[in-house]
Amino acid sequence: MNELENVRNVRLNEAGDKVLILDQEKLPNVEEYLELGNAEELYDAIFRLKVRGAPAIGICAGYGMYVLAKQIETEDFDTFYKEWKEKKDYLDSSRPTAVNLSWALNRMEKVVLNHREQSVAEIKELLLAESRMIQAEDVQMCKAISEHGLSLLKDGDGVLTHCNAGPLATSKYGTALGPLMLGKERGMEFHVFADETRPLLQGARLTAYELQKAGVDVTLICDNMAGLVMKNGWVDACLVGCDRIAANGDAANKIGTSVVAVLAKYYHIPFYVLGPTSTIDMHCPTGEDITIELRDPEEIRSRFYEEPQALAEVKCYNPAFDVTPHELITGIVTEHGVIRAPFQENIAKMFQEHPAK
Ligand code: MRU
Repeated sequence: MNELENVRNVRLNEAGDKVLILDQEKLPNVEEYLELGNAEELYDAIFRLKVRGAPAIGICAGYGMYVLAKQIETEDFDTFYKEWKEKKDYLDSSRPTAVNLSWALNRMEKVVLNHREQSVAEIKELLLAESRMIQAEDVQMCKAISEHGLSLLKDGDGVLTHCNAGPLATSKYGTALGPLMLGKERGMEFHVFADETRPLLQGARLTAYELQKAGVDVTLICDNMAGLVMKNGWVDACLVGCDRIAANGDAANKIGTSVVAVLAKYYHIPFYVLGPTSTIDMHCPTGEDITIELRDPEEIRSRFYEEPQALAEVKCYNPAFDVTPHELITGIVTEHGVIRAPFQENIAKMFQEHPAK
């Protein structure tokens, strides 16, 4: 599979017994790879955001379930499935908001259950093929999303983005950064404002890093500066990723995204959410039904600072995501095209035309 050759952030090692990830916790100062060989290492890497970004988490989990399957030494299907399923459920509990995690794990489980008549050795080979397929499809999906997203921009546009939805969060191109990467390949120039994205600074550490390396003109701003750059007329479009989209178009993404959407509405700037259709959860009727991950208060209180920024006893509230109501979204850009309001109707129509896997 040629398209996987240059993928650096998540892949299987040569021996096929470990998942290799570029440690996103250490970026941008240290480019270090980690090998994940057991369920605890996989869980920890996802939980601690060493591998992050909804599609990348799903890809890592797919490869992970193949690696874990190989370690189960039995020829009996029921024994194999019981042990494998325990590990699957464990990984599934590592991050609740990004639907791509359970989507990829369920895809892997379907392979196991649909081939129960075959030998365990054959099932393991099928799991390998499925995990590779998940990643190869991601590359194609991101390319298609990038094409559709690019059709919404013109050369010289100013773009604001939040968090990181670039190649690091996927396999190639990315979702929200995809149009910018693709446009750059075609000689187009954009001026990008990257929100630093408190508290874990994915915008500063990852988005600014990726765009800078790709030669895209990027300016880092603090989250609370977005309104000013919009007021100044420097932003023609907002492009953000997503972790779960409800059936009515409400979209969960990194905390602060909904603030960008409110500002964009006020300043009459189009606000686009970009993501593969695997991020749309038809079992979630509205954004109210999306579980929001709560994280360690230390991420706000002391991480990234030489000294704590608040007293240890100060209460902190640290939700990792927020939900942007569909009324604030101009369009949802998927691999099948741009979905516009009425979202409920048009999302359902899109799935009728392109049934989910
Ligand atoms: O907590 P993170 O860093 O995994 O959050 C990531 C985001 O919010 C991204 O925008 C989203 O996962 C889409 S990545 C293509």
